[in-house]
Amino acid sequence: MISPDLPVELKAALDAKLQGFSRNEAASRAAAISRTYRDGGGSGTIKSETDALAYVLARMPATYAAIVASLNAFVEIRPDFAPSSLLDIGAGPGTASWAAAQTFPSLQRFVLLDANATLRALALELAGTRLRDARYELGPARKLLADAEPADLVVASYMVGEIDEAERTALAGLMWEKTGEVLVIVEPGTPAGYARIIALRAQLIAAGAHVVAPCPHDEECPLEAPDWCHFSQRLSRSRAHMQVKGAEVPFEDERFAYVALTRTPAPNRPSRVLAQPVVGKADVTAKLCTPEGLSIAKIPRRAKADYARARRWRWGDAVTGA
Ligand SMILES: C[S@@+](CC[C@H](N)C(=O)[O-])C[C@H]1O[C@@H](n2cnc3c(N)ncnc32)[C@H](O)[C@@H]1O
Repeated sequence: MISPDLPVELKAALDAKLQGFSRNEAASRAAAISRTYRDGGGSGTIKSETDALAYVLARMPATYAAIVASLNAFVEIRPDFAPSSLLDIGAGPGTASWAAAQTFPSLQRFVLLDANATLRALALELAGTRLRDARYELGPARKLLADAEPADLVVASYMVGEIDEAERTALAGLMWEKTGEVLVIVEPGTPAGYARIIALRAQLIAAGAHVVAPCPHDEECPLEAPDWCHFSQRLSRSRAHMQVKGAEVPFEDERFAYVALTRTPAPNRPSRVLAQPVVGKADVTAKLCTPEGLSIAKIPRRAKADYARARRWRWGDAVTGA
């Protein structure tokens, strides 16, 4: 399992970039950018180098952690997957490329697409040795993707929420067309983020895709509103990260929603833990998505081995024998 914390090389590049930058200015820009996000806006407000750096300091550790968690969940089920090429759609500072590079040592060709010139410039400065030969194209994702070579792995992280529904549907179809084997889409773990994931999931299953994670089936999602499928990843905060966020604790929990879709069906699809299980004296109660649908499993203490196993279950885990 890959660590959810930023790779040492990236942290060092960020620290070097921060020299001579006012933390206060970065903090106030980060607060303005976060406000825009909360109000439903996107990364369009990122225009200057300070904006880009503020965004990266405030958000990149968390989006990186969510992407790594999604890729880890995929790899657990498909440990054989060894991609050589990656397409990173709406790459921003290169977060998904970094996460994929850490997860898949086999990756050789990295192509990043984004319309934001400032984030692109920062991504190239931060690229480091692993992404040194990456190609980063500037422009509208759909147009660039239409001309791109297919890749074994395609990732769109925290991107599809920035485009309207018609554009999203068209882009998703094109992303799937360019997917050699695996497409991973990651979104914020809000009801709206989940709704986008679930709509794209249905669209792409209809186009022939199979879900590998988080769902253990290709059927309709069994959750009913106001419930929604999302997960949580804890990550540590560096001092600069804390300063920019005005945070007091050295960690943060990023809520995210995701789907990993493949061309080949997975050989087995374990159940997924949908909330932190409750460990009681008499039993462990766990909310699971199983191949047969939603289940509230109660594992009694008297079933010693099963109970001991269930005590270790965490929100987001893939579990068998439940
Ligand atoms: C919230 S950022 C996420 C960046 C990165 N994927 C991550 O996870 O940290 C969204 C990115 O999508 C890009 N984007 C949004 N709409 C786009 C479009 N139609 N074409 C190209 N890039 C787009 C933005 O410029 C921005 O860099």
